[in-house]
Amino acid sequence: MFDVIVIGGGPAGYVAAIRSSQLGLKTACIEEYTDSDTNPTFGGTCLNVGCIPSKALLDSSHRYHDAANHLKTHGIDIKNVELDLPAMMKRKDDIVKKLTGGIGGLFAANKVTPISGRGKVIAGQKVEVTNSSGDVEIIESKNIIIATGSSPIEIGSAKFDDKNILDSTGALEIDSVPKTLGVIGAGVIGLELGSVWARLGSKVTVIEAMDDFLFMADKEIAKETLKDFKKQGLDIRLGCKLTSSKSLKNSVNITYETKGKSEEMKFDKLIVAVGRKPNTQDVFSEDSGVSLDERGFIHVNEHCQTNAANIWAIGDVVRGPMLAHKGSEEGIMVAERIAGKHAEMNYDLVPSVIYTHPEIAWVGKNEEELKDENVEYKVGKFPFAASGRALAVDQSVGFVKLISDAKTDTILGVHVFGPSAAEIVQQALISMEFGASSEDLGLTIFSHPTVSEALHEAALAVNNEAIHIGNKRK
Ligand code: FAD
Ligand code: NAI
Repeated sequence: MFDVIVIGGGPAGYVAAIRSSQLGLKTACIEEYTDSDTNPTFGGTCLNVGCIPSKALLDSSHRYHDAANHLKTHGIDIKNVELDLPAMMKRKDDIVKKLTGGIGGLFAANKVTPISGRGKVIAGQKVEVTNSSGDVEIIESKNIIIATGSSPIEIGSAKFDDKNILDSTGALEIDSVPKTLGVIGAGVIGLELGSVWARLGSKVTVIEAMDDFLFMADKEIAKETLKDFKKQGLDIRLGCKLTSSKSLKNSVNITYETKGKSEEMKFDKLIVAVGRKPNTQDVFSEDSGVSLDERGFIHVNEHCQTNAANIWAIGDVVRGPMLAHKGSEEGIMVAERIAGKHAEMNYDLVPSVIYTHPEIAWVGKNEEELKDENVEYKVGKFPFAASGRALAVDQSVGFVKLISDAKTDTILGVHVFGPSAAEIVQQALISMEFGASSEDLGLTIFSHPTVSEALHEAALAVNNEAIHIGNKRK
């Protein structure tokens, strides 16, 4: 009998398992994915086919593009920059292997029992595990945590064929640079992986159904980033709905509808990235007591408890943003609650990052959300064009925008498009966790020269006190 059984070893599940074990609970983690006959491979979507391999390719492709296009202004003239795509892919695969193997080591160090197979919650708080040979075992636990994650959504107008029409996993493994690449969906995956292949030489066209670009981001940031992506050569077509596609021997034909007209295009490859769906199929039996919410996610309360006693669910399989750090924090909260601690999760401060170049990142509310909520606010902005460090490192595009409450000055949101946006937002987030005001950040000393100084200046700009921009005086 275990104290905790976790089903799924992604960033939500493996973190929940380690934290449970740290707290003295006898813990097992069941994972069905394996790259060998016997051992489960932990890390989930994030480590195997998501966050990590995509960031490895984003970095490599950026270095290649920089070397080929941007070093002349630095007085460096490299002749014949050549792409070795297999070497680039091998570097990515090696990083994935190192990290996924590392989780096995962490489990051993923390005494988490790894179990290879497919887990299913059945009545009586039991878990049925089916291994790759089809053998079934029933195991019991005082608590069960479901962390089965999510998978790419497949649409009828572009069914994945693993050859020309690819999901995000296929998009990380293309073996030669396609001359032309279509991407369906200008969301996070479309922009990140579209950027990778554009930097490596593909002519990339992104087809997006919505009229608004990055509808979840601050409008001003979205407008600025759209301009920049177009400058980088991404042909982003908004208000275009894919109607059909046909995979041929070495290419894909698509048709899409825009403003009542039908258009056709042909690509060497097509990536479809129109969102992800929770993995809930065959994860629990009807009599287990677990149920789904109206959007098809496992129904949980604010502490990730399902409708069934002592059964919890975390990560992509439950409501909220599908992000690794959100799932991991839920895993820690649940492990601590099982161990009798008073753990909470601050869902208002989950940061978002799009790892393009420059990065786009934000935390808290944007102007549109605050207007909808009738909250009065003040805005301070600072452009990277006025940052000495940003100019020195040749990354002066974009700006920091800080929003604070008009009455209390408490910081309500920070939105960044520019160099190290993710790290800058993380600094702001820490201050927000402690209830900081724009005045607090304005009174903080920032090292010079850093791109983070733009956050300091944006905080000062809230009250028209930024030093390095020409504030208009009355
Ligand atoms: P998953 O990581 O999906 O893990 C679930 C695990 O459960 C899988 O290993 C699966 O094999 C296993 N499983 C499923 N069913 C069963 C079963 N019945 N029995 C046993 N095992 C089972 N997020 C970020 O925060 N930052 C990023 O930069 C980022 N980049 C991404 C890039 C791409 C291309 C993609 C696709 C996603 C990216 N994400 C990113 C999202 C991130 O990967 C997910 O939010 C995160 O992996 C969710 O964690 P999870 O543990 O809930 O689920
Ligand atoms: P997404 O939800 O970010 O974007 C999907 C886009 O496709 C939307 O803009 C949507 O309007 C569009 N779309 C939907 N149907 C369409 C159609 N038929 N034709 C044209 N456009 C259509 O989903 P995406 O990019 O697949 O990513 C899934 C999730 O993975 C993200 O929401 C995020 O949670 C996670 N992720 C996070 C990353 C990060 O944190 N940096 C990186 C990559 C993924």
